[in-house]
Amino acid sequence: MARHLITSALPYINGIKHLGNMVGSMLPADVYSRYLRQRGHEVLFICATDEHGTPAELAAQEAGLPVAEFCTRAHEAQKAVYDGFGLSFDFFGRSSSPQNREITQEIARELQRNGFIEERAIRQVYSNADGRFLPDRYIVGTCPHCGYDKARGDQCENCTRVLDPTDLLEPRSAISGSADLEVRETKHLFLLQSKLTEEVEEWISAHGDDWPVLASSIARKWLTEGLQDRSITRDLEWGVPVPADVWPELAAAGKVFYVWFDAPIEYIGATKEWADAAPAGQLRDWKSWWYEADATVRYTEFMAKDNVPFHTVMFPATILGSRRPWKKVDYVKAFNWLTYYGGKFSTSQKRGIFTDVALELLPADYWRYFLMAHAPESDDSSFTWDLFAGVVNKDLADTLGNFVNRVLSFSRKRFGDHVPGGHAPGEAEQRLGAQIADLLAEYEAQLDALNFRKAAQSLRALWSAGNAYLDEKAPWLQVKTDPEAAALTLRTAMNLIHLYAVVSEPFIPTAAAAMRGAFASADDAPAASRRWVSAAEARALDLVPAGTAFTVPPVLFAKITDEDLAAWTVRFGGESA
Ligand code: 2FM
Ligand code: ZN
Repeated sequence: MARHLITSALPYINGIKHLGNMVGSMLPADVYSRYLRQRGHEVLFICATDEHGTPAELAAQEAGLPVAEFCTRAHEAQKAVYDGFGLSFDFFGRSSSPQNREITQEIARELQRNGFIEERAIRQVYSNADGRFLPDRYIVGTCPHCGYDKARGDQCENCTRVLDPTDLLEPRSAISGSADLEVRETKHLFLLQSKLTEEVEEWISAHGDDWPVLASSIARKWLTEGLQDRSITRDLEWGVPVPADVWPELAAAGKVFYVWFDAPIEYIGATKEWADAAPAGQLRDWKSWWYEADATVRYTEFMAKDNVPFHTVMFPATILGSRRPWKKVDYVKAFNWLTYYGGKFSTSQKRGIFTDVALELLPADYWRYFLMAHAPESDDSSFTWDLFAGVVNKDLADTLGNFVNRVLSFSRKRFGDHVPGGHAPGEAEQRLGAQIADLLAEYEAQLDALNFRKAAQSLRALWSAGNAYLDEKAPWLQVKTDPEAAALTLRTAMNLIHLYAVVSEPFIPTAAAAMRGAFASADDAPAASRRWVSAAEARALDLVPAGTAFTVPPVLFAKITDEDLAAWTVRFGGESA
């Protein structure tokens, strides 16, 4: 069995994330982690808040809090939402942790020792009105590549190009809005990426072909444009300080590392945080995942497309230049944008749905299923309330929820609260078993390939097969002429419910637990187990034997009504608002 190291892009600390952020990194990573765990693999699923840099400082300023305190509170707030979404992180760390500081500084020292860091005097934008340098997001302006007029100093979120603040046209301060800016000289550390170009190219040639096109094409585009040396320090209050033993002058001047230098290192840092947080007597060997990791460790990263250049080029360059055997990514799963009625989700314009508010409207499973079934994998995909309600009502409420409720309620009414016996399986059950085994194999293949939309389709096909079987056998008619035949149908359908409980868990863990919990069993008996179902078990459909006690769970998924739909469309600024 492989050991799977899984990371999802670290959410910025600056605010609660919207559904687009969720579907582009954390949620698919969770679905994949859950699936692999159920299949018996060892999984380490790591995430953290990305706490440094201008986004944190600007948000703290807006909240009127010292930045450290703002980050502590914001970390807890995000963590609560992710718990609510059922994200099964093994650890959710903080990039401001001492562990990350230590590892980041050590990697910087190694890069320096190996000749990949240089101190350079640069000309940087200084705001007279604010009395400070304006790094990255402290400066906004027009993107020189695509003309987007709200481009940030570090990256244009419209065309995803990485920028330097001095590239921006018509620049202004993000703090005061002042355009009274001048360029002054100041010293910074530069990562000599140009010296690492060939090594990064070789590494991408060796691995990039296995990645989805979205990731490999962005990586190659970046390489074709040539790797530029990049400044990796900033004039900020908050960040990993430049180590004074190597750069005393810069340390005294208060320079900290650029957020994109220390953020990916926090994947390692958070793993060490996880190990340091181990309960007494438990050893968590963080290094075996990252340092001289053997071939059994497979590392998969999840992220939205704007993060791809940093993960496929800049972070690997950092790691390669350290000349240390840190684990590098094996597979990069990248996502396009989820849009809101074709436009951007926007915090400032209060457009779209944020994850905390989503959970106030409906339980996590509704969102989880919809988001993954419409994940922006091969292209952008658009959220609309009509589409969301259609998917919830048809797939979750009708196809799955109603099946579960129909089968269990009807069986209890006719045969009491134990799984009925009845005839031995016949031709229809054999056909069903073969179909379920095929669909399960298809579902597994899609999950193994990280094709989440297709996996959701296969899951829905499994649910539909149960409905088709039930309609064909019509136990409500069978019971009138041949109760033993009705009992067989219901017993088979209950076994489908158990199978659904197991295989639906990656997408809808709460409903899966309710389905599993419907069947009484000893803790280690199959009905209580989340262990994946084998092809033979899927074909036989007999893991829940006759005589097993069951209960009818509350309705798994309520339908979204026309009134809900109208109210939410107005409240969240949908098309018809
Ligand atoms: O784009 C973002 O939201 C970044 N905070 C992602 C960082 S990923 C990693 F490298 F830390
Ligand atoms: Zn642009």
